[in-house]
Amino acid sequence: MNGMTERPRRLRKNENLRSMVRETRVSADSLVYPFFVMEGENIKEEIPTMPGQFRYSIDRLPELFDALKASGVFRVLIFGIPGYKDEEGSSAWAEDGIVQRALKFLKEKYPEFYLITDVCMCEYTSHGHCGILCEHDVDNDKTLKVLARTALSHVKAGADMVAPSDMMDGRIAAIREILDENGYVNTPIMSYSVKYASSFYGPFRDAAGSAPSFGDRKSYQMDFHNVREALKEAALDEMEGADILMVKPGMAYLDILVKVKEMTDKPVALYSVSGEYSMIKAAAMAGYIDEMKVVGESAVCMFRAGADIIITYYAMEIADLIKQGRIG
Ligand code: PBG
Repeated sequence: MNGMTERPRRLRKNENLRSMVRETRVSADSLVYPFFVMEGENIKEEIPTMPGQFRYSIDRLPELFDALKASGVFRVLIFGIPGYKDEEGSSAWAEDGIVQRALKFLKEKYPEFYLITDVCMCEYTSHGHCGILCEHDVDNDKTLKVLARTALSHVKAGADMVAPSDMMDGRIAAIREILDENGYVNTPIMSYSVKYASSFYGPFRDAAGSAPSFGDRKSYQMDFHNVREALKEAALDEMEGADILMVKPGMAYLDILVKVKEMTDKPVALYSVSGEYSMIKAAAMAGYIDEMKVVGESAVCMFRAGADIIITYYAMEIADLIKQGRIG
């Protein structure tokens, strides 16, 4: 007798026991894979700052979608890279725009997938900002109109859900209104509610050619020193009718996720962004870490913090880890 009544190690004895008492369960059903579709034909080009991730022309998308299907990842987030950019980003809402055509193609060829579209202007504007400029800043209310128009064009082309990532004030209400007016009352909105002005998006901007040509995004995306402001953004989006709230980036922002989860009864998504992918990939390529172990652990940690949905470029690998019983 040594007086110890509690011995936590008793429940860590072997894998059989550990997996019985596990607190966090993970599922491929909660994973969303983001990808880039671009104008052109027969293109599958690797993104230099995101090894293992590609930009696809529509005709090459079957390679990606067959792979997703094989891994059991059936939810995607679509980003478009247009052939043409202008001041107002008009190819974002064009009926024959890149996202709209990709949606039509995928709805017909891969009806078993759930298609979510990113709604933003930065890939479509010549200046790379997320909306319509007035002098050297983005004009909030003018931008609402083009965002709403873009969201509607996505839904008309077959999007199952829209995800505005621009961070304008009032955009959820503007999008909800235009969807409802056009009879799409049941199309959900996943709001990038808490989106910080983050350098972790660097590789994405390289991938999508969407870096701002001057200045930065700090007048619309959030200051990463702030927490209470995140809760305000989340509350506003809830009031405006968002169905799912997102926190972005992921790993370095799990404290924010925990707080948002506490204040809402909506599902909460976490976006593990391009820079997070590229850091793990680069460390793995240098031989510094075991890629799949780090990917699996990171995914579990995001779920453990309370994410209901994880958006990640590693979705297929995580699904495979779950299938192999290495996490879960
Ligand atoms: C568009 C958008 C960005 C990301 C998602 N939507 C880039 C940005 O805000 O600059 C970043 C995603 C990633 O880094 O993986 N506004």
